[in-house]
Amino acid sequence: MNLVLLGPPGAGKGTQAARLREELRLPYLSTGDLLRRHRAKETALGLAAAEYMDQGQLVPDELIITMLMDAVNGPPRGFLLDGFPRTVVQAEALERSLDAAGSRLRAVVLVEVPDQVIVGRISGRLTCPYGHVYHAQVSPPVRAGVCDRDGETLVQRNDDQVETVRRRLSVYHESTAPLAAFYERHNVLVRVDGNQAPDDVFDAITAALGVTPANRA
Ligand code: AP5
Repeated sequence: MNLVLLGPPGAGKGTQAARLREELRLPYLSTGDLLRRHRAKETALGLAAAEYMDQGQLVPDELIITMLMDAVNGPPRGFLLDGFPRTVVQAEALERSLDAAGSRLRAVVLVEVPDQVIVGRISGRLTCPYGHVYHAQVSPPVRAGVCDRDGETLVQRNDDQVETVRRRLSVYHESTAPLAAFYERHNVLVRVDGNQAPDDVFDAITAALGVTPANRA
């Protein structure tokens, strides 16, 4: 099963991906997490990407496509993608790669959340260096400031300042939202209301994908 999670910053893609990857036993790739790992290691790609990320802009397509194809190490076979594609150019590159592998997307799940909800969500977000996500009110860690999963210190992301979040939202509407129409034409778009409790969002996604308790991994 090849799945893509699409949606504005702070829609809850990472939160839902953490559950879906366990539920469906799919290899998971988040371009945001990959980029943050490159930055932490100060690779050439990480250094090139840093400025774009901190300004809330998209990293250039060619850097992202090369990074992702390197990470999957050949044509992708069975995956959950979070944060890719984000432009029509990236979506076309993914289509070509899947075509070459004789594969296709099963679904693109668009998690929809109004802009006015996003800023509150992101300003309360805490993450660990391995990408585990919390929210100070909605899903706090057991011990304040410490990741439940790996004991690492939780921090606020560089790009989670209010002004940067607003810029990311406007970049989303300009460059990424048009992908909904792109995937509607390919008959793979599934819209899910992300403005409800995380458990309810998860149930809506699995119902839309036809994943029931009986056929879960
Ligand atoms: P990336 O890391 O992909 O960020 P994003 O898409 O902006 O998404 P976020 O990680 O901010 O949010 P999310 O939807 O995962 O929400 P989360 O689950 O954390 O990208 C960062 C940057 O990298 C980009 O700006 C760009 O520069 C670059 N980049 C990455 N991919 C790229 C690409 N393909 N091309 C070019 N550039 C690229 O949830 C948010 C908060 O809300 C959390 O605190 C969570 O606990 C809480 N929450 C989650 N669900 C709910 C709920 N249902 N109710 C209440 N609170 C909730």
